[in-house]
Amino acid sequence: MKPRPLAAPHARAEALAPGAWLGLLGGGQLGRMFCMAAQVLGYRVVVLDPADESPAGSVANRRIVADYLDPKALATLADVCQGATTEFENVPSAALEFLGRTMRVTPAAASVAIAQDRISEKTFIAGHGFPVAPFAVLRTRADARRADPMLLPGVVKSARLGYDGKGQIRVATRDDVGRAFTAMGGSACVLERLVDLQGELSVIVARDEGGDLAAWPVAENLHRNGILDTSIVPARVGPALGLRAHTIAAALATALDYRGVLCVELFIAPGGELLVNEIAPRPHNSGHYTIDACVTSQFEQQARVLAGMPMGDTLQHTPAVMVNVLGDVWFPGDATAPREPTWSRVLAHPRAKLHLYGKREPRRGRKMGHVTCLGGTLDDALGTAAAIKRELGIPA
Ligand SMILES: Nc1ncnc2c1ncn2[C@@H]1O[C@H](COP(=O)(O)OP(=O)(O)O)[C@@H](O)[C@H]1O
Ligand SMILES: [Mg+2]
Repeated sequence: MKPRPLAAPHARAEALAPGAWLGLLGGGQLGRMFCMAAQVLGYRVVVLDPADESPAGSVANRRIVADYLDPKALATLADVCQGATTEFENVPSAALEFLGRTMRVTPAAASVAIAQDRISEKTFIAGHGFPVAPFAVLRTRADARRADPMLLPGVVKSARLGYDGKGQIRVATRDDVGRAFTAMGGSACVLERLVDLQGELSVIVARDEGGDLAAWPVAENLHRNGILDTSIVPARVGPALGLRAHTIAAALATALDYRGVLCVELFIAPGGELLVNEIAPRPHNSGHYTIDACVTSQFEQQARVLAGMPMGDTLQHTPAVMVNVLGDVWFPGDATAPREPTWSRVLAHPRAKLHLYGKREPRRGRKMGHVTCLGGTLDDALGTAAAIKRELGIPA
C-alpha cells in the first residue's frame, strides 16, 4: 500500500477535486443515494459490501464484494480511494480506523464506534448532560433480576446491531426483563423506561472539517411497529421546541467533534420535554425528503464534507411529507406471493417523487423505497401523502 501523508487533525486539508475516488462502506439504500449525489458532483465511488447484490453496488462506479474487515478489500480501498465514508452504522469501526490512517474518513471511526453501541451512545449522551430517558445497563442475568422498578414499564434494547425496532422487547415486570435479556442471547442490553411519547422529531446536522455546522429543518416522525412510516417537514411544533431540538443536535455534533452528516432522534415527553433517543452517524431515513425539498440533500452534504468542499445550503424550499414504502405494499391483504404495486398511481400525483432502491426481494418490514410528497403548503403535501398511502394500501 502506498503511504500517504496524514493531515493534521482539525486542519482544513486540501479538498478532493471531482474525479477523485470515494470509498463507501455499506451497500444499502443510504449508500445508493450517496453514490448518486457524489456522482452528480463528478466523484467516483467504490462500494464495499459483503452482499453480491446491493442497492449501492448497482450504481457504484466500482464495487468490492467482501467482508468489511477483509484485508485485501481494505488494501484495495486504501489504494484506490482518496476518502471514505460509511452508510451503515454497524460497519466495524476498525475498518474506518484502518482507512483513516491514509485518507480522509468522515465520520471518524471513534464517532461511529460510540453510535453503534447503545451503551456507549447513551453513556456519552447522558454524560455530556443531554436529556435522555432513564436507563440502566444490563450485562448479566443478575443485572436483569435487580432491574430498577423505576424503569418499568420499559423496553430492553440490545446494545448492538438493532435497527428498525429490531432487537427490542417491551417489558412490564422484572421477570419480563429477565426473559427479554435471555431472549437477546444474554448479550449486553439497555433497559430504558417507556416514554409516554407526545411525538418524535429528528434533526439532521452536518459538521465539516473546520467545525462549521449546517442543520436541516426539524422533521416530525411517525413510526409504525418501530419502523419509520412518515416524516413531515417542517415539523408541526412551536418555534421554542424547534429551537431546542436544533440546539441539542448542534451541541451533540460538537461534543462528538463530529465530521459528516449526523442524525439526532428525539422524543417529545409529556410537558414538551425533549429527550435524545439515539444518534445515527450517517444520513437518515427522516432526511430523504432533502433530496427533493432542499437546496442541498443530506447525501450531497455527506459527499461535500468528505471531499473537504464547502457545505451547501440546507434551506428547505418546499414543504414535504415523506412516506416509506415497505415490502408490505407487495403483499396486499393476506397475499403470500408478492405483487408489484401499480406505480403509475403514485406517479399520477405530479408532485410526488418516487424513489425505489432496486431491491429485488420484497419482504414485510423491509425498506424498498420512499415517496416524497411536495406541496405548495404542508397541508397539500399531507393530502397527497394520504392519497398515496390509500392507493398503496399503507395504513393511514
Ligand atoms: N423508551 C421508549 N419509549 C417509547 N417508545 C420508544 C422507546 N424506545 C423506542 N421507542 C420506539 O421505538 C422506535 C425505535 O426505537 P429506537 O431506539 O430508535 O431503535 P432503532 O434503532 O430501531 O431505530 C422509536 O422511534 C420509538 O417509536
Ligand atoms: Mg431509531
